[in-house]
Formats: sequence, structure tokens, C-alpha cells
Amino acid sequence: MSTQELITQELITQVKIQRYLPEQHNEPYWQTFTVPMDESTSILDALNHIKEEQDPSLSYRWSCRMAICGSCGVMVNGIPKLGCKTFLRDYSGPLKIEPLAHFPIEKDLMVDMDTFLQHLTAVQPYLIPDFINEQPASTEPYKQTPAQLAKYRQFANCINCGLCYSACPQFGLNAEFLGPAALTLAHRYNLDSRDTGKDQRMAQLNSHEGVWGCTFVGFCSEVCPKGVDPAAAVNQGKVEAAKSTLIALFKG
Ligand code: SF4
Ligand code: FES
Repeated sequence: MSTQELITQELITQVKIQRYLPEQHNEPYWQTFTVPMDESTSILDALNHIKEEQDPSLSYRWSCRMAICGSCGVMVNGIPKLGCKTFLRDYSGPLKIEPLAHFPIEKDLMVDMDTFLQHLTAVQPYLIPDFINEQPASTEPYKQTPAQLAKYRQFANCINCGLCYSACPQFGLNAEFLGPAALTLAHRYNLDSRDTGKDQRMAQLNSHEGVWGCTFVGFCSEVCPKGVDPAAAVNQGKVEAAKSTLIALFKG
């Protein structure tokens, strides 16, 4: 083969995708595609190539292409990943792409995230002001010191991608379990100096579907694409829940 042929030769790889078209099939099946690739080809690029050049019926979610919107999660060789942040160059051999585990499949790689979103909203993920000692409305900024911000900042980086739920065996067993991201979100607000809603959230957090549903496998933190460390948030939440139980006991 000449040097020119080597330079112009296109690298290709095989991508095996789990398909499911509920109006046509009773259950999912596998389909293999061949896609061109170079050093910069992401999983999302490969899916876009397949959709544009080979099969327009392929369905999947994406938006930002820069690990911000959280919509492109898929299983890559059995591990939850963001399609736009995962590159073909890092894999050898055929790739297997499936929808995120532990969620009902809607179509191809698209899953139903309703339960996940309900869990996020269930923990009251917003600042709850001090209604009892409420001061007259102020036009001043609600200031925080850098130290106050640092307490929860890491936990505020979540992009709601749901990868940690696909990594969580407890959520796989019991979809009522609030799960890593929702418990992290609750912890993020509980740590915020502007919030006084910890007691309101505690009934949910201090329960089997809350922090005590976690068996500390820790895979959630390994797969998080934003370095959030939900396992640490849940463990810190367990300490707070235990303290809350003790205080309630002493109060009788
Ligand atoms: S904690 Fe990480 S993995 Fe879980 S939803 Fe948030 S960003 Fe995604
Ligand atoms: S496309 Fe937005 S996170 Fe991947």
C-alpha cells in the first residue's frame, strides 16, 4: 500500500446498537453499523453519522455536545457514559451501545426519565426561606462567603444526566429509592447557608427510600461525568439523618 493510500485510508469501526421500535418489535434486538472514525470521533458523532448516512429511524437524545445538557447518556460496553464525552479512540474492538440501564426504554436509545425527574423534584430542590423569622423583603443581594459557597459547590455541578441511576444497583432493584442525584441535590440545599429547609426534607431523606436505601456501592461516583461524588453526599446525608433521629429521641 502506498503512503498516499495510507494517508487517505479511512479508519472504520463497528458499532453494535440495541434497537427497539415498540410499534414494530416485541422486544429489543441488536443491529451492527460500520462508521468512519478519527481521533476526535465521539459516540454521539458515530450515532449522528448512522442517523444521517445509514438509518434515519435511529432514535437517541442529545443537545449541547459539550457535557452540559446531560441528555446524551447511553451504556457503552455496559458502563453509563455521556455520548458526547466518550470517544471511539478509547475502545478497541466492536462497541456495544445500549439505552441507560434501569430505565424503561421508550425507543432505541431513548429512555423514560419520569421517575428520575419525580425523585429530583420530591426533595424540594430550591432554597426554602426562614418563614418563622422572616425579615421584611430586602433588595440587597443574598450574600455568601467563599467558605459558605465551598460547602455545597461540588454538589451543585450535577447536570441531571441520570448516569448514576444506571450505575446504582439499589435503584435497579427499587425504583422508589430516591437515588444518588436526588439525594445529592437535597444535600446541596441542606448545606446552603441561605436555606432553612433541612427539617422539611428530612422525613424523605431519613427513610428506606432515602439515604438508608443506599448500600454504598460507590459506582455512582465512578461514572459521574461531572465529578459530583454522589456517594459522599449520601454518606454525609446518613450522618445528618442519624443526628436528626437522635435529636428527636432526646426531645421525646
Ligand atoms: S450526580 Fe453526576 S451522574 Fe448523577 S445525574 Fe448528576 S451529573 Fe449525572
Ligand atoms: S449532548 Fe449535552 S451532555 Fe452530551
